[in-house]
Amino acid sequence: MSVDEPVRIGLLGRGTVGAAFADLLDERADEIGAATGRRPEIAGVLRRADGDFDEIVESSEIVVELIGGTDPARDYVLRAMRAGRHVVSANKQLIAQHGDELFDAAREAGVQLRFEAAVAGVVPVIRVIQESLAATEITKVFGIVNGTTNYILTEMASTGATYAEALGRAQELGYAEADPTEDVNGADAAAKMAILARLAFHTPVGLDDVSYEGIEEISPDDIAYAKELGLSLKLLGVAERVDGGITVRVFPCFLYRGHPLAPVEGPFNAVMVEAPTITEITMSGPGAGGPETATAVLGDVVSVISGEAPVHATRRQLPVVRDASSSYYLHLEVADRPGVLAQIADVLGRNEVSVRSVVQRGLGEDARLVMVMHEGPETRFRSALEEIATLDFVRATPRAIRVIEEEFV
Ligand SMILES: NC(=O)c1ccc[n+]([C@@H]2O[C@H](COP(=O)([O-])OP(=O)(O)OC[C@H]3O[C@@H](n4cnc5c(N)ncnc54)[C@H](OP(=O)(O)O)[C@@H]3O)[C@@H](O)[C@H]2O)c1
Repeated sequence: MSVDEPVRIGLLGRGTVGAAFADLLDERADEIGAATGRRPEIAGVLRRADGDFDEIVESSEIVVELIGGTDPARDYVLRAMRAGRHVVSANKQLIAQHGDELFDAAREAGVQLRFEAAVAGVVPVIRVIQESLAATEITKVFGIVNGTTNYILTEMASTGATYAEALGRAQELGYAEADPTEDVNGADAAAKMAILARLAFHTPVGLDDVSYEGIEEISPDDIAYAKELGLSLKLLGVAERVDGGITVRVFPCFLYRGHPLAPVEGPFNAVMVEAPTITEITMSGPGAGGPETATAVLGDVVSVISGEAPVHATRRQLPVVRDASSSYYLHLEVADRPGVLAQIADVLGRNEVSVRSVVQRGLGEDARLVMVMHEGPETRFRSALEEIATLDFVRATPRAIRVIEEEFV
């Protein structure tokens, strides 16, 4: 790029984030020009019924993709990079589903592909993992990467609302889409975790490698018990190194009060990174919103203007391990009669699941048992659970939720 000429930006999509980006760029262009020597300006805008993609690419140095989804975003981003344009995107599905192809295309064309806003909005997790921690052997990346579900769980805990009521409030406030499926079933967080795992462990990770569960089945009861036990419930994404491989998972999880992610409430996101040399880093902030997301997108544009960044390359082929180790909370409604606890203990014992604590409450003819297990392989716990569900004294489907046991200090 030659000095003093404006940097021309082709904008694909002018919706919530695209419009906020265009406004922010207008507002900050002089400042960016003064700082970098190149003042950014919009060369053209593509919307469904407006603009011509080829003309926009022809007249720009950087293409900013804010359309969302994979079709036609994938085609546009590949064509822009093959035409020698740097690309900035906020599109998690695109990067999670087509990462290999896109990173190869960026490398072959010698252009930058930046996507800070695709994970945790304006919280700079991608930059920290890819750049600040480039020389660090990261062992674990985990956090709250979906603001919609965090808002719903916070609302349920603070007001006693049901899942449906809290979802309705999230929709009224614009924290949840009209169709919230991808947020509440964990798929959105899974796409973000695939991206973080790929970057942290330098290995190809696709959406299919992530196992995920959502929050649709969480009841106010679970949250009330959690409160009594000093726990808070979060939808966590966890990517970690295990025995020569990695696991990447999304699941609802109870956290002890002292955990750094426990106080992260409402639509906020937070991500922790662990490595032997850094102990741990926690980053938190707004995970979505037009101006917030646009800020991350414009930050990427400034980075592109300012210089070269290392193009992401996978250096390893780490196997994805499906059976992780977890500790569980188990909620059982059973007939209140002698021998029940002994039979449950027998099933758990035969499956080598060890119990950390048990609380029993009477419910008239029935009783409620709330048990917390010690950490162990998930497959063992799941097989014990299947067996327990078939016992004749079990009155309702057992409810199991993971727990992070240790108290952070
Ligand atoms: N919203 C957030 O808070 C947030 C946060 C983090 C990341 N993101 C990501 O940012 C991206 C944009 O999200 P958004 O909320 O701004 O979406 P949005 O409001 O739905 O806007 C999408 C824009 O893309 C345009 N578009 C859609 N399909 C198109 C096509 N086939 N050809 C040309 N243009 C097309 C739309 O055109 P029309 O104007 O003609 O409809 C609209 O301008 C997504 O990847 C999203 O995941 C969003």
